[in-house]
Amino acid sequence: MPGKNFYITTPIYYVNDVPHIGHAYTTIASDVMARYKRMCGFDVMFSTGTDEHGQKIQQAADQRNMTAQQLVDSVMVNFKNLWKELEITNTDFVRTTEARHERVVQYIFSRLMEQGDIYKGSYEGWYCVPCETYFPESQIGGEKLCPDCGRPLQNMTEESYFFRMSKYERPLLDYYEKNPGAILPQPRYNEVLSFIRSGLRDQSISRTSVSWGVPLPGDERHVIYVWFDALINYLTVCGYPDNEELVEKYWPTVNHIMAKDIIRFHCIVWPAMLLALGLNPPAKVFSHGWWTVEGEKMSKSRGNVVDPFEMAALYGVDAFRYFLMREIPFGSDGDFSERALVGRINSDLANDQGNLLNRTLQMIDNFTGGVVPSHSGTEEDLDREIRAMALATLDSYRARMDSYAFDEALKEVWTLIRRANKYIDETMPWKLGKEGNLERLGPVLNTLCETLRFTAAMVSPFMPATARKIFDQLGLSGDPTELLLDELEWGQIPEGSRVSKKAVLFPRIDLKEWEKQKAERDARKGATPDPGDHEDEVSIDDFKKIELRVARVVKVEPVPKADKLYRMDLDLGYERRTIVSGIREFRTPEELEGRQIIVICNLKPASLRGVVSNGMLLAAETADGKSLALLTVDQEIAPGSRVH
Ligand code: MSP
Repeated sequence: MPGKNFYITTPIYYVNDVPHIGHAYTTIASDVMARYKRMCGFDVMFSTGTDEHGQKIQQAADQRNMTAQQLVDSVMVNFKNLWKELEITNTDFVRTTEARHERVVQYIFSRLMEQGDIYKGSYEGWYCVPCETYFPESQIGGEKLCPDCGRPLQNMTEESYFFRMSKYERPLLDYYEKNPGAILPQPRYNEVLSFIRSGLRDQSISRTSVSWGVPLPGDERHVIYVWFDALINYLTVCGYPDNEELVEKYWPTVNHIMAKDIIRFHCIVWPAMLLALGLNPPAKVFSHGWWTVEGEKMSKSRGNVVDPFEMAALYGVDAFRYFLMREIPFGSDGDFSERALVGRINSDLANDQGNLLNRTLQMIDNFTGGVVPSHSGTEEDLDREIRAMALATLDSYRARMDSYAFDEALKEVWTLIRRANKYIDETMPWKLGKEGNLERLGPVLNTLCETLRFTAAMVSPFMPATARKIFDQLGLSGDPTELLLDELEWGQIPEGSRVSKKAVLFPRIDLKEWEKQKAERDARKGATPDPGDHEDEVSIDDFKKIELRVARVVKVEPVPKADKLYRMDLDLGYERRTIVSGIREFRTPEELEGRQIIVICNLKPASLRGVVSNGMLLAAETADGKSLALLTVDQEIAPGSRVH
């Protein structure tokens, strides 16, 4: 079907663990592209989802004493919530345990079986359980360690169904030779091609050793291998095979985004499956780089996994999105550090972008009564230079965006922003204002507002809320995230638009204060066991040693010379006791007196600022340490009751 259609996908993420910045990165990048394409007039389908089958998920569920279904149902929600929080505009969210998906997987399996592209055989090889992959001898060396994760491999023999991938070696090579832009960046294309040229082997696509998967039609001792199942999600979203119209509309345009860890599945196995089905291979597979954290690989055992919810809560969704897209070229590896994020907020967002808006609005307030002046007046070369630069920036921005060079696109916009700040210094509108030179002031302020409008439009795929705020403060109607770039022209600010200066977009972060808070956060994290970290497991007997009871707060008094501490007298039914608690900045004595709280009663007494504390109350605290909630009971109960 002709027309401007665009289908973009993220990988579907494993739900054996919570989402981290790596997942957020891929999804934000895909969202930026989806938003940009909409602004170019494309009808966009944008899918993400969760990969919920396989041994890895089963094992994670076993470790947590849950069924696999319970695990996937609960963890999947974290991904959905994160995408909402990060303003992701996906049009579908697919789960591989959904009936609509399982049906498509079984259909494709049966069809390929019927046409002879799948056959039954047996498989012997070195298998990595966590990666769910067999590795050929040539890749694993004498120690038989997984080339991907480094863990020991197991020698396994299984009856298995095979997909005749070898048959598609030549057709794949032909396709890629004709379409060199189908795998980006270029080094990945070369890698994939040389892998195909080294010879493709048929791919095992079923397991008898796993039960958590899509049952294999006609042979229920097998489940379908998790990767064969997962890749098909991209067609499920297209309504394949029933919705021919949707498939025809979107499938030829599909762009798959992911990191380089999974390109072989996407550039070899998946296109071969598609060729077998008579469909075109993905129009583009873009593989981005890998994030480390402060120079180290991100991992739970290192305790350095960055939580995207926390980053968004601390620094704001837009600043977080901007940083990820600006910090490293899309396609290269990069290192995440909060310090670098704070640096970008202070320089690019607060200083450059925020200042341009503030200075402009302030002068409009001061000199033209809050109304954006029209362009008529004495125009000078400088104004013409800025206008020409804004138009040229829009062109180069589009060229960069079209080739996934997000960081370059942002650099183009910031060159314009910095130039406009310099233009303020050069034209000195405050001087023109004081002199009452409205002839000249009009074009200058108008040029600044137009530049701001252009930059708001261009940053809107990256920072949608910020773009809206800029429009709002400039007094412009309409949503910048919905405008069409083809229709963006200079001089469209309506006559008489009234600006309204509001809170600054990005307040500067005081580095000294930030360092103090970061140190406190790190200390708190160090003291908090990671919920998924089973090295810190305690037995039920250990837990029973802790005596938790309900207590009523009788009296609360500040501890002298300690601005964070309260002395709290508690009624435990069988006795009165005193504890000292550090919640003074969060609650007044009146808010606490009379309430029922939960207390650890058998904690070793400790003296805090001269007052002996005989226990500790329980409370939950947000990651930024700014808010706290007390643990309490959901109905009145006798003081002293045990909490189990
Ligand atoms: N379930 C498979 C994908 C199946 S798609 C048909 C899977 N899931 S995953 O949860 O492990 O996600 C892998 C993807 O997450 C990577 O390809 C990448 O997009 C993203 N990232 C995970 N960690 C990352 C970094 N440290 N850095 C950058 N991206 C990362 O593989």
